[in-house]
Amino acid sequence: MIAKKPPMGFNTWNTFGEMFNAQMLCELADAMVERGFKDAGYEYLIVDDHWEMDERDPETGRLVPRPAKFPNGIKEVIDYVHSKGLKFGLYSCAGVKTCGMKPASFNNEYLDAKTFAEWGVDYLKYDYCAKPETQDGDTLYRRMGIALRECGREILFAACNWGQSDVTSWIRSSGAHMYRSTHDIINTYESTCGIFRSQVDKLGASAPFCFNDMDMLTVGMKGAGGPAGNSKGCTPGEYRIQFCTWCMFGVPLILGCDLRNVDEEYRDLLCNEKLIRINQDEEARAPHPIAVNDRMEFMKELSGGEYAVLLINTDTEDTRKGFVSYDMGWKASSGCKMEFEDVLSGEKLTFTDYVRIPVPAHDCRMFIMRLVD
Ligand code: GLA
Repeated sequence: MIAKKPPMGFNTWNTFGEMFNAQMLCELADAMVERGFKDAGYEYLIVDDHWEMDERDPETGRLVPRPAKFPNGIKEVIDYVHSKGLKFGLYSCAGVKTCGMKPASFNNEYLDAKTFAEWGVDYLKYDYCAKPETQDGDTLYRRMGIALRECGREILFAACNWGQSDVTSWIRSSGAHMYRSTHDIINTYESTCGIFRSQVDKLGASAPFCFNDMDMLTVGMKGAGGPAGNSKGCTPGEYRIQFCTWCMFGVPLILGCDLRNVDEEYRDLLCNEKLIRINQDEEARAPHPIAVNDRMEFMKELSGGEYAVLLINTDTEDTRKGFVSYDMGWKASSGCKMEFEDVLSGEKLTFTDYVRIPVPAHDCRMFIMRLVD
């Protein structure tokens, strides 16, 4: 059963754009295994736009992988990815052209789904460029949704219409397992904050088998180039804000940095067992802001009687963040104590009613919290 929990993987787009090939994909698959990403839960290796030739095969009408990128065909790479115990993802688009102006799947949905199934594809990212004006988004996604259901292989359907066309009202019916609800991320602090702030009120519709998608992570890209690249990059604290919000918000974790050489510091963050446990919690409850004033303190009910708490400091000065227990939903007179465990440092803190915790500038703290007598 797929997408019971937020999907986890890696996608070529953020760092590589159209600059990838078979050998690099095999190296990335190796890095996913050897550097511990697979053990942490990352399972899909996804190839984004630009894998396709400029035209379909004139005889069969099928999409054709670019021989310059895949000299021995794409199946060889897919088989290699599978041999590593990973799954393989590919990209197409609901319009007549992909965003990179390659042939897309409009009016070829069934043929393309069948082709992907024959190759052994496990995940399809499905974009929204060059959509015919006469067609509704929901019809187009439903068509591919049915084509995938009927293609003879279990393929995760990752819709990518950037939150447009009132997507939350119909996307679950289309069969999609996740759906992009934001514009494209870039590797800056402003982009990270813009995206997570825009999602706070949209997470109620994100649930098992159809998750809201905040786009691929830029954690660890630093000053890398590529479509999401930005020479400014983010600081370690700013990357912590990105990864912690994506985990807290229960959205898919699709990595976008170069897994082969990302710093150990970021590898450790991206593979943090407690953060991933919060992201993958089986009840998949939406987080909610604790204090209504600045909406930078979040709480999320976890299975097993625990809570996740995230405190974000978007100011340029260190500060103390916190709240009154009443804002979380109960009175101090209940006699309970709140036991906080910092998921990154392991530090333990106990509070009765007033919570006050230091948070450095442009950084965050994330906790697992239990109520004890
Ligand atoms: C759109 C998507 C991106 C990426 C590119 C590829 O912009 O939102 O994530 O897939 O297309 O062309």
